[in-house]
Amino acid sequence: MNKVLLLGQGGREHAIAYKLKKEGIDVYCYPGNPGIMNEAKETYLKSSDFNEIKDFCLSKYIDLVVVGPEQYLNDGIADYLNQYNIDVFGPSKNAARIETDKSYAKRIMENNNVKTAKAVFAENEQMFKDIIKTRKYPYVIKVSGLAAGKGAYVITNSNEYEKAYNDIYAENKFKQAANRVIIEDFLEGEESSLFVITDGKNAVPLLPAQDYKRAYNEDKGPNTGGMGAYAPFTGINENKLGIIMETIIFPVLRGMEKDENPFKGLLYAGLMLDGDKTSIVEFNARFGDPETQSVLFLMESSIYDIMKKSVNGNLKDLCCKFNNEYAVTVIIAANGYPSSYNKGMNISLDNKIDEKSYIFHAGTKMENNKLVSNGGRILSITSKDNTLEQAVNRVYNNIKQVNIENAFYRNDIAKKGIK
Ligand code: AMP
Ligand code: GLY
Repeated sequence: MNKVLLLGQGGREHAIAYKLKKEGIDVYCYPGNPGIMNEAKETYLKSSDFNEIKDFCLSKYIDLVVVGPEQYLNDGIADYLNQYNIDVFGPSKNAARIETDKSYAKRIMENNNVKTAKAVFAENEQMFKDIIKTRKYPYVIKVSGLAAGKGAYVITNSNEYEKAYNDIYAENKFKQAANRVIIEDFLEGEESSLFVITDGKNAVPLLPAQDYKRAYNEDKGPNTGGMGAYAPFTGINENKLGIIMETIIFPVLRGMEKDENPFKGLLYAGLMLDGDKTSIVEFNARFGDPETQSVLFLMESSIYDIMKKSVNGNLKDLCCKFNNEYAVTVIIAANGYPSSYNKGMNISLDNKIDEKSYIFHAGTKMENNKLVSNGGRILSITSKDNTLEQAVNRVYNNIKQVNIENAFYRNDIAKKGIK
């Protein structure tokens, strides 16, 4: 039996664990959460110390380490474990810069003719203020480093500007991640997340998805890590997917290879589609959350096999099979998220959800034998069905079975995709 060590503790990792278990893989997870631990085994790890992780992998004969969150990649986990001949699904620290360093990502795109928003960089507060004086609404302010999906501000009025300025400079919320701040043009259009699994040369696209990033209905409120997602996104057909692979994904992969910085693992393209024009909003170096819950819920091919082939450089001519349904994921989050919120809220999952739906845990934990909340995004429900409309109806029928104190969810996930 193949063995995987999965690192992470969110809904994305729960979906990965669920899929791997269905494929008959022996999954260990650290740190995990109560939902993941229904699919995976405990490790004896006490921390994310790389040396400890290495010892665990060697002692358990782990075949593949699967990395959820970007922080591990930024800290160089793939480089470290590879020294001990441990296979890691995820890029090197240097290749992960496509996500962790937005100035690097912009340079790769510029050098390889990939469309993205025009950007200028402010190295300090004075430069930032000088640049802002020259801008007209709308524009976008982003911190250059990692910010858990919360470091981007779309600015359409002075209140929004004040909020961004306060977070970044007055309150210094992002610390070193805001050493450089990007001010870039606003891109019009509809967003989609495309996951591509690559061995550095060859690339296999998964189903395009759409993430709902704003906290409230009708795309109102602050940006979050994602409040829901569906797949396949109806705005990208096979023809368009081919064009995106040829004009965006392969140029970036070839550009990184030419720089002697090949990207192996999962490349997440955050796309903006405006008629025939497709631009990149951002790249990530890992699975997205909650898109993964929808995409993997429909995947028929073995994710283990594809990840292992990405590591071994064997992805040529491989394609990935999905069933023909739609999957919709809705997140339940703590009131106040993405700002401050309480933890320890009671969660009741006593009522049954149906067989075409699944609960993926994110911020949950057991306390005195009771399941309680332990984060902003608490859990998600994913449902699949033949049409997008049926999948939407199913997920919102099932979500009524879950009761969480002081929590909320969006009512409009995937609805704009229904024709
Ligand atoms: P990012 O941190 O780059 O993923 O940005 C988070 C979200 O902010 C994106 O998913 C978009 O919804 C929005 N956003 C970021 N950059 C732009 C842009 N240049 N134009 C329009 N929206 C943007
Ligand atoms: N859902 C957005 C992300 O994972 O970055």
